[in-house]
Amino acid sequence: MIAVRSRAPQRARLSALGAYVPEQVVTNADFVARMDTTDEWIVSRTGIRERRYARPDQATSDLAIEAARAVLDDAGLPAADVDALIVPTCTPDHLFPSVAAITADAIGAHNAAAFDIEAACSGFIYGLSQATALVESGFARNVLVVGAELFSRLVDPDDRSTCILFGDGAAGALVTAGDPGDTDGFLGFDLGADGSLACELLLPVGGTRQPASQPFAREAAYVQMNGREVFRFATRVMEETTVRILEAVGLGIDDIDLLVAHQANQRIIDHAIGRLGFDPAKVFNNVEHYGNTSAASIPLALWEARQAGVLRPGMQTLLVGFGAGLTWGATVVRYEP
Ligand code: ACO
Repeated sequence: MIAVRSRAPQRARLSALGAYVPEQVVTNADFVARMDTTDEWIVSRTGIRERRYARPDQATSDLAIEAARAVLDDAGLPAADVDALIVPTCTPDHLFPSVAAITADAIGAHNAAAFDIEAACSGFIYGLSQATALVESGFARNVLVVGAELFSRLVDPDDRSTCILFGDGAAGALVTAGDPGDTDGFLGFDLGADGSLACELLLPVGGTRQPASQPFAREAAYVQMNGREVFRFATRVMEETTVRILEAVGLGIDDIDLLVAHQANQRIIDHAIGRLGFDPAKVFNNVEHYGNTSAASIPLALWEARQAGVLRPGMQTLLVGFGAGLTWGATVVRYEP
């Protein structure tokens, strides 16, 4: 990307969507067959019935590549016209290079700046904010944001409190330059992080604090989570960030046509919308079929909502994410393909 300040102001619009999930379906019965759990426990605590697992030969970038191609197909945009490719992920192929660089090369986005964003399950909202900033500053016209995660390889297959929660997938959106007078696009963002809660959800080994070259306990190589603390945090911030973003953009709960929240757990979403007084009929969920796909979950749900005819052009849509960090993010967007 060669960026020079544009003379004409431009609005960032959400103009295309796409998704990819691996074929292998892992049901609750598959866990029941090999560990001390029940379908009833998993469904009542999380709402999850099945999730997708990547093939052994697939890494995160392989999922991102498929999703990126799907977004470009949806947009009818040649890869060479992508100015920047942002991949929100906390389960990259490697610590470096970025998933975005590998993905850009594979799809032929040779003119694109490419970088990952690590904000865990809030990553897609963070990515949209960066795409919006690039477009509205005039430095880019087409920014591809593809959340991609492969958690199945980083959860302990014998830890019943985490392995049932996560699935693999990738999904994304194209943020493009519209006219300055456009009323669609992103109305605002609320982003935040509270690193004092970092220890509540983390993967200890593999970074500089605990390098993989040093001896470590088996469980330190897998996702560690304080489920109750994360649950408390998630329900609190989902409510707080929703209130803040709506106030900031001058809208009320009833002005929102559709809510798509991070698909971590049905109970978290139900709890938060109950406290907000949000109409459940305006909430789209698919956690039942994919589990928690972290940074891919919001675009995957948005894409499915559109395929199902639930997300329609012009709808005022609220997107809310929360996750490791601990982080949160919310935005209101009017989707116009
Ligand atoms: N099957 C049966 N029993 C189980 C299972 C299971 N799969 N998992 C845990 N249990 C047991 C526990 O061992 C515990 O037993 P004990 O009382 O004998 O010790 C009991 O169930 C209760 O455990 P809790 O952890 O208190 O269960 P809780 O009701 O809190 O539900 C859950 C656990 C579902 C993980 C919940 O805490 C939760 O949803 N937390 C949020 C998790 C989440 O969404 N994380 C992702 C955030 S986003 C991101 O960035 C990745």
